[in-house]
Amino acid sequence: MSKYLITGGLPLTGEIKVSGAKNAALPIIAAAMLAESPSTLLDIPKLRDVTNLCSILRAMGAKIEREDNKVFLDPRTLNSFEADHEIARKLRASYYILGVFLAKNGWARTSLPGGCNIGNRPIDLHLKGFKSLGATVSLDHGIVEVKSEKLRGSRIYLDYPSVGATINIILAATMAEGKTIIENAAREPEIVDLANFLTVMGAQIKGVGTDIIKIEGVEELKGAEHRIIPDRIEAGTYMIASALTGGNVFVKNVLSEHVKPLIAKLHEMDVDLEEKISGVKINSTKRLNAVDIKTLPYPGFPTDLQSQMMVLLTQSDATSLVIETVWENRFMHVDELKRMGADIKIDGHSALIKPCKLAGAEVTATDLRAGAALILAGLSAEGETEIRDIYHIERGYENIEKKLATINANIRKIK
Ligand code: UD1
Repeated sequence: MSKYLITGGLPLTGEIKVSGAKNAALPIIAAAMLAESPSTLLDIPKLRDVTNLCSILRAMGAKIEREDNKVFLDPRTLNSFEADHEIARKLRASYYILGVFLAKNGWARTSLPGGCNIGNRPIDLHLKGFKSLGATVSLDHGIVEVKSEKLRGSRIYLDYPSVGATINIILAATMAEGKTIIENAAREPEIVDLANFLTVMGAQIKGVGTDIIKIEGVEELKGAEHRIIPDRIEAGTYMIASALTGGNVFVKNVLSEHVKPLIAKLHEMDVDLEEKISGVKINSTKRLNAVDIKTLPYPGFPTDLQSQMMVLLTQSDATSLVIETVWENRFMHVDELKRMGADIKIDGHSALIKPCKLAGAEVTATDLRAGAALILAGLSAEGETEIRDIYHIERGYENIEKKLATINANIRKIK
């Protein structure tokens, strides 16, 4: 088991480049399977979730070659529509197999998805969408099966703007007969990126980025070349890291409109920040104002930056309030931060954060973003921090320790 050793206290300086977005790469890799010809994807991050999804698709017969951050996908050799249950359980995004192969083949089967342990992660909205398109759905001992003779477009209202359900319904509807309308759809940039790829493949999709998405089914999709958008959560993590350590960092390859809620909060905290065409520069030497945060679906403050932001709030000048509304179990980092001296009180979905000095300690990454928060805490703490179970972090951050080391962080990975 590997761990990270971090000696804190150094201000971060220099330039750090953000990788392609994990949460766009995963559905786009799956979407490439819809085509009748090969696709080439650029800026695919080298992450465990991506490797696992590629392994599932290879085992189903697809030809996939990876060359650095470029991935070549040939769906013409697919010969199975059932995902390897063991691997599928390891990542949440394996449920995209359902939407893709329901559209392409009229049948698909996979195990109920895994991923981070951040709360009850139902897929009822995905299944509601498939049923509305005319599919039958069965669940047996953790295995989901969807099938349909012919999918027909329909009007689907999502009770919650779920990212995964919106994507899965788009995937299934691309080749359904007639028009599908998704109401109360999620608006995340990763969904827009997927729709851009599908459009180049020949799909007819309108309204992505708004809460009403319209899809007119087409008979066939062809392969395409596509570059994945930058990862806004990775970008936000490095922006917070710079503000936290009193650093001066240019976070490169950021679409600043995708990190607007974070930029707004950093401004409120009085962090000096400059938005440039290719990234965001953070220069922070002043005292930080306390602010309140409430996580919401996009364009609200992202739940995937909540734990990292909480670390920054421990270094502000007064008490802050964080309200988590997206996931029910997303304060698992708090107990670990307390080991490092944090003064945080949880009451249901809210956390009250008082200013404190952090000190290095032995801590455990309980999920992906909680793990990122511990790295940030370690960078700011006095003394040495040891983080265990870093495989969670490696699911979502490409070469994080190497990238941080180039901007003056004292972080090492040890076996
Ligand atoms: C995606 C992201 C994840 C992020 C989340 C919210 C991926 C691979 N992961 O997860 O990093 O934290 O968006 O921004 O893209 N829900 C239901 N029924 C459903 C589906 C979801 O009740 O069928 C609920 C969930 O329990 C949760 C909320 O909706 O409370 C948000 O889930 P959703 O938007 O679906 O998140 P994911 O797509 O799983």
